Amino acid sequence: MFLIFFISGCLWLLAVLSLISKKVSELRASVLAYGKLNATADQPTSNWASYLRMWTVPKSWFAHFYVVGFLFSMYCWLELSLAMTFKEKEQTPLLGPLLLSLQKWDSSRGSQSVNWSLCLIGLFLLTLHLARRLYESWFIEKPSPLARMHLSHYFVGLGFYGAMVFGTWLEGVAALPIWLDYNPASRSFCYQDIPIVTTSIGTILFLYASKHQYRCHCILASLRTNNKGDDDDDGKRNSYRIPHGDWFEFLVAPHYTCDVLIYLSLCIIYQARSIILLSGLFWTFLNLSVTASETKTWYISTFPTYPKHRWIMVPGLF
Ligand SMILES: NC(=O)c1ccc[n+]([C@@H]2O[C@H](COP(=O)([O-])OP(=O)(O)OC[C@H]3O[C@@H](n4cnc5c(N)ncnc54)[C@H](OP(=O)(O)O)[C@@H]3O)[C@@H](O)[C@H]2O)c1
Repeated sequence: MFLIFFISGCLWLLAVLSLISKKVSELRASVLAYGKLNATADQPTSNWASYLRMWTVPKSWFAHFYVVGFLFSMYCWLELSLAMTFKEKEQTPLLGPLLLSLQKWDSSRGSQSVNWSLCLIGLFLLTLHLARRLYESWFIEKPSPLARMHLSHYFVGLGFYGAMVFGTWLEGVAALPIWLDYNPASRSFCYQDIPIVTTSIGTILFLYASKHQYRCHCILASLRTNNKGDDDDDGKRNSYRIPHGDWFEFLVAPHYTCDVLIYLSLCIIYQARSIILLSGLFWTFLNLSVTASETKTWYISTFPTYPKHRWIMVPGLF
């Protein structure tokens, strides 16, 4: 319960901070903008904001989020699988350091809200998502060597994917033999436990959004025609163009909308019972709406021919 509240609380706090930094000009100037958006961002006017703005890392370090997230999800699979192999006649269940820490420092309250079979489906889908993003970061995307992001973005990104991995199983983990009040009947994967309608809708939406996000990343990479790792002698690795094709025809940053749909699909699968995933969806929606709105401003001021009718996040709404 404590970890659930801590993670959800952090996500809500980050959402509030993201809104504050959009409203406070010194924070907007120093922390909010990243990558290409720095070009049209406000300039800091105070010393502290100018100093804060210098704390940046290469934007290509985005790939680290998926490395860390993917490795953490694989580690979770290992610990959870070992705990699931526990037989009643055995005296001690096989608990790794993560589950032992939960046993010692946390309680089972709040960890019984989600059916364990759904937790396994959710963790599987999130692992797939992280693996695909890792593949895209390494083999598809062509990040600019000049693009930078603030150090705070870097730490938030690392924490976010760890939080989402926890979010897939923490609220159902009381099904495992960690605390005394666990239910032995509910700890293995069972088809009868799966609500067919919400799981099917969520899984189809997840695959549909993943396919479009992949296409959008391919389109963005195709705007830089030289290969990853090539010398930047023709300037293409640092250049930006107007993307066309797929959902780019009606959205500013469809890969952001796809990200929101991916977390929405997980919330549907979990029947909105996971507080962490709901908080993650809220944070992603708010954070990426802010970034997509800044992106639209950047496109319009950079390219006079940019199609202004493209929506920021939700077609027909904004
Ligand atoms: N869940 C969350 O809270 C969250 C937060 C942030 C991002 N994400 C996800 O992470 C992924 C990447 O996000 P991002 O903010 O890095 O996206 P991005 O700024 O659009 O960048 C994606 C890649 O495309 C390149 N690019 C972007 N616009 C371009 C243009 N007009 N011309 C040529 N190249 C262009 C970028 O180059 P540069 O290297 O020059 O930037 C970068 O390599 C997205 O799918 C997003 O949904 C999720």
